[in-house]
Amino acid sequence: MIITPLRPERIGDVLRLMELGDPYISARTLSDYWLYATLFSSTCPIAVEDDDTVAGAVIAFRSQDDPADIYVQDVMTHPQHRRRGITRALLESVRSQAETWGCQRLYLTSEPENEAAHTSWTALGFENVPGDHEVNGVSVISDFKGPGRSRAVYQLTLG
Ligand SMILES: CC(C)(COP(=O)(O)OP(=O)(O)OC[C@H]1O[C@@H](n2cnc3c(N)ncnc32)[C@H](O)[C@@H]1OP(=O)(O)O)[C@@H](O)C(=O)NCCC(=O)NCCS
Repeated sequence: MIITPLRPERIGDVLRLMELGDPYISARTLSDYWLYATLFSSTCPIAVEDDDTVAGAVIAFRSQDDPADIYVQDVMTHPQHRRRGITRALLESVRSQAETWGCQRLYLTSEPENEAAHTSWTALGFENVPGDHEVNGVSVISDFKGPGRSRAVYQLTLG
């Protein structure tokens, strides 16, 4: 397995991978993936297996409003390849790029019911940012992504 930046020729593979992420991941459009592959590839690594299939992908961006921040939008490992360290390796790649740029924080959100995600972020050193209420022991910030769109927020401080 290798970790490599998303390239335009892989966007169909990544879209098909993301289609397997229901209910927590929704595939975006080919135009979106083209954008990620063309403008943001250094923070959008994919995991490619020896048989050339794409087993995992992370879509992340450096903030233009606060360049010390990297926001991780989507994390997905193929259902047949989970618990093999693919997310660990993909996020390590983003972290390495972030440190090269001198960024101070990786952060992401997930839905509080997503136990595998919560366990993963915690295992990978992310802190569940204190919110205003808890769901199943997960701290949640109300309306974080707009009205009715509460999210658990996680961050990894760098440097
Ligand atoms: C959450 C998800 C991305 C984790 O990917 P993964 O490649 O399986 O994660 P890794 O193998 O790198 O796991 C890293 C650590 O997280 C923890 N972990 C990951 N999945 C776990 C699970 N289902 N249960 C318990 N712990 C888990 C473990 O501690 C693991 O380390 P270990 O295997 O050495 O013990 C994957 O389950 C997935 O794609 N889910 C569907 C999409 C999704 O929900 N994405 C996140 C949306 S915000």
